[in-house]
Amino acid sequence: MEGVIDAHTRDLLTRQPGFDWTVTEFVRVVDARLPPKVFLRHCPELDRRVTTPSGVPVALQLLGSDPAALAANAEQARKLGASAIDLNFGCPAKLVNRHDGGASLLRDPRRVHAAVAAVHAAVGDEIPVTAKIRLGFSHRRLALDCAKAAEDGGATQLVVHARTRDEGYRPPAHWEWIGRIRRHLSIPVVANGDIWSLEDYWKARTLSGCRDVMLGRGALADPWLAPRIRHWLATGEQLAATPWQARAKVLADFAALQRITLPDRIVTSLVKQWLNHMRQRDAEAAQRFQAVKRINELETLLARLAQPHEAPAHGTLEPA
Ligand SMILES: Cc1cc2nc3c(=O)[nH]c(=O)nc-3n(C[C@H](O)[C@H](O)[C@H](O)COP(=O)(O)O)c2cc1C
Repeated sequence: MEGVIDAHTRDLLTRQPGFDWTVTEFVRVVDARLPPKVFLRHCPELDRRVTTPSGVPVALQLLGSDPAALAANAEQARKLGASAIDLNFGCPAKLVNRHDGGASLLRDPRRVHAAVAAVHAAVGDEIPVTAKIRLGFSHRRLALDCAKAAEDGGATQLVVHARTRDEGYRPPAHWEWIGRIRRHLSIPVVANGDIWSLEDYWKARTLSGCRDVMLGRGALADPWLAPRIRHWLATGEQLAATPWQARAKVLADFAALQRITLPDRIVTSLVKQWLNHMRQRDAEAAQRFQAVKRINELETLLARLAQPHEAPAHGTLEPA
């Protein structure tokens, strides 16, 4: 996920068992073959057998519309050691769509096919080519055609984010639509969109009929969501809700990793950005976010987050 799931975040999220694979933020392909440093920036794991430190494989994602340019860059990525190429046909960003990338290709399934087929031809069967789509651009009428186009082009797996581009990130995700697509494909289909809890996970699986799901924002909101699902599948037991101290530890570890290369000012905003994701689904994280959102000094921020209890906002204990 662009701007939020870099190699450090992938590392932290995969330290507990739960994820089978992860994917990089998209590498934007326009027309030129990009230099190796761009691929290494997006996917430092290329230097480490393309897995996170705990051994979870990382697919390298490309976003673009020109089949020849995608093919040249997929070939470049393969030479650098990429072990899977994922193609992004889901990005709803206006800037990306205006430049004819991401979800804009869903308006014409032939273009999805051309992109996947070109990349498949470039990397051969040496490494898998996978694709990620939404249900369409402004309607769902081409959902199945786009999915089949990806399969016919040579994709070995398809992730479906169960909303159209125009639906953005607005709930609900239409998981039952993924089921309609899945029934017509022979490659594995992975369900994605709005999986925030164990209950959502089960509902998404049931309605889509998919064996596997992809977690996005839910994994940032609760870094234990994937382990929670894995644990439940293995034992039938539900893990307790993730306590604040565990979240604070993830944020502190994240800051320590980011500080190796980034100035504290940037790390401070990155920590707040992750906390902002956590607060979407957790009352304590929401309270903590309110308490620290104006802190601009990293040490102060981390010290405050590490406090066992956040003091109530100033004045709330004043006698009436
Ligand atoms: C900030 C942000 C950045 C994203 N960047 C990417 C990306 O680079 N590649 C991609 O395939 N999807 C990207 N997505 C989409 C997510 O992977 C996912 O499909 C979407 O958020 C729905 O799943 P969720 O409800 O579990 O988050 C991004 C989403 C967000 C919110």
